[in-house]
Amino acid sequence: MNRATRNTWLCGLLSVPLAGLVLLTWGVTFWTLALAAVALACPLSMLWSWRMAQRALAPLDAPVPHTRGMTMDWAVPIYDWYCPKLGLGPAFRRETLRHAALAPGERVLDVGCGTGVLTRLAAEAVGATGYVVGIDPGPRMLAEARRTSAASAARIEFRLAAIEALPFGDASFDAVLSSLMLHHLPPDMKRAGLKEVYRVLKPGGRLIVVDVDRPAQPLWWLAAWPLLLMSMTRINILGHVPAFLREAGFASVASKGRWFKLLAFWHACKPGASVELAR
Ligand SMILES: C[S@@+](CC[C@H](N)C(=O)[O-])C[C@H]1O[C@@H](n2cnc3c(N)ncnc32)[C@H](O)[C@@H]1O
Repeated sequence: MNRATRNTWLCGLLSVPLAGLVLLTWGVTFWTLALAAVALACPLSMLWSWRMAQRALAPLDAPVPHTRGMTMDWAVPIYDWYCPKLGLGPAFRRETLRHAALAPGERVLDVGCGTGVLTRLAAEAVGATGYVVGIDPGPRMLAEARRTSAASAARIEFRLAAIEALPFGDASFDAVLSSLMLHHLPPDMKRAGLKEVYRVLKPGGRLIVVDVDRPAQPLWWLAAWPLLLMSMTRINILGHVPAFLREAGFASVASKGRWFKLLAFWHACKPGASVELAR
């Protein structure tokens, strides 16, 4: 058990007496119960993720990449159920694809594809002449993506890989999608990952990012401020994602819209030949 895991467990376990203390000192009210429920959810979700890690896994076709990104294998059984509950259902996916403006025949990479919801839609958009590949370092996520895509006739592939070491040659893709993934990476890995995306894009290729951004309304800070405490999310919540995109070499970085008040869609181009199609 490394130091980070030990500290996480320590915090999770401390939240149990904390929940008891809140109830004992402030009495049972709606708010103290809500607070206690949140405190108890921490160790429970940790137990859940530990339990998931014990489950047998189908044989892998590649070694599990070592990454400091936050993988989400623990969420596999509930991910596709809770996303729509958070407003990240089919309408959100359609909006992401609208920004990507994929054309038949294009080669597309979905980084941090999770259960592959967006990857499958992208594969439909590029059709039989196109090709879509989703990568994720979480072996259970990837197994789920493969399972749910097995019936799809589209040209789609899933690879066990991390964004900071993409197993593709230079200039391999017309478009790269990054949906709700960047905020899973600490700052140095955001930099390394975006450089890799830049490398595998063809000149003129485009990157579409949808992720957490600086809250559009002051009231949202009330809910979003804890994200300032984690290095993975701080960059996002301070509104620095466009700067990271430019630093990686991307041009024409633009915010193309928002989803709720907390997520933004960004569009960025790799300068070169067929660049900056007016999408
Ligand atoms: C919130 S999920 C998003 C999944 C999917 N893109 C979506 O829109 O539903 C974030 C994903 O990023 C993946 N991830 C974490 N670290 C990563 C890394 N270093 N490279 C690529 N993906 C990573 C996680 O395993 C997880 O599946």
